[in-house]
Amino acid sequence: MFETDVTRLLGIEHPVIGGCMQYITGPEFAAAVSNAGALGIMSSAMFPTQGEFREALLKLKSLTDRPFAVNLNLFPALRPIDNELYAEVIMAEGVPVVETSGHLPPDELVGPLKEAGIKVMHKCTSVRHAVSAQRQGVDAVTVFGSEGGGHIADLGFTTMSLVPRAADVLDVPVIAAGGIADGRGLLAALALGAGAAMLGTRLLLSEEAGVHRNLKDALLAATEYDTVPILGSVHNTLRAWRNGAALEAARLEESGAEFLEILQVVAGVNTRRMMDRGDVDAGVVACSLAVGIIDEVKPVADIIGGMVAEAAAAAAGICN
Ligand SMILES: Cc1cc2nc3c(=O)[nH]c(=O)nc-3n(C[C@H](O)[C@H](O)[C@H](O)COP(=O)(O)O)c2cc1C
Repeated sequence: MFETDVTRLLGIEHPVIGGCMQYITGPEFAAAVSNAGALGIMSSAMFPTQGEFREALLKLKSLTDRPFAVNLNLFPALRPIDNELYAEVIMAEGVPVVETSGHLPPDELVGPLKEAGIKVMHKCTSVRHAVSAQRQGVDAVTVFGSEGGGHIADLGFTTMSLVPRAADVLDVPVIAAGGIADGRGLLAALALGAGAAMLGTRLLLSEEAGVHRNLKDALLAATEYDTVPILGSVHNTLRAWRNGAALEAARLEESGAEFLEILQVVAGVNTRRMMDRGDVDAGVVACSLAVGIIDEVKPVADIIGGMVAEAAAAAAGICN
């Protein structure tokens, strides 16, 4: 229905990308997104060893024959991440697309991936970083506005301002991320010059997302008032759902607490407890301002198909 530079580049049916979500976008989830005609992205950082990562990748390949991507995490991480080890497996297993997010991907990473015929996309939060990524040779850039759930950085630029600027300045295709959760947002992203929209929070509230129903219900009840940027004090700003853990982290930051004390609250082990056991104040979870327009947990295919149909209807309805 919407053929764009990004759908052509990636060989996907719909101009939609399922954003990487730590602890959620494993092989089954990424396959569900790809099988729905979008681009599924599997997290690599979820798999601590090269062997576990290879096993997950083989599983993903067995679950879809559509294009998919693997995310390489270039954010500062507590567990040292050796992306070279993941890259070895990615090249050996013929992964079609790699997404990097966080710091600019170094030549040593992009060069071999490109030589192996792999398409590389980079996700960043400013046009300045997008231009650097393009110079580095990436095939597409995702610009991530601060409405979104996840690491939004300190700059505070919004999707509405980032996407047209990036489309004006870059030669490579642009993907819009941050605050997009329905067909209206998808259409707006395309109108602003993006070739696809990336979804995080909308897909967190899908049937396939392996998180406890208590958390899904709490997020369904949330609105745009219910997120909070935290971790700005350590220059790693994260837009999170405003629950007990996020407010405690914000309080500690405000009082000038040591990072190790803040870490006790934001540690991944607490997030896992929340996701697995449904103790909704136990840990921190990324969450978009768009959470307020999400009112139903649906299968991934219905979310993506419905969004594309809604975007087409919205385009037709604009001048009525
Ligand atoms: C629960 C959750 C976890 C996320 N984890 C990651 C991650 O590990 N790496 C990453 O690059 N982005 C991560 N993101 C960001 C998403 O990939 C995506 O860019 C973002 O959610 C888009 O904004 P939206 O939430 O408004 O749709 C996460 C987002 C959410 C909601």
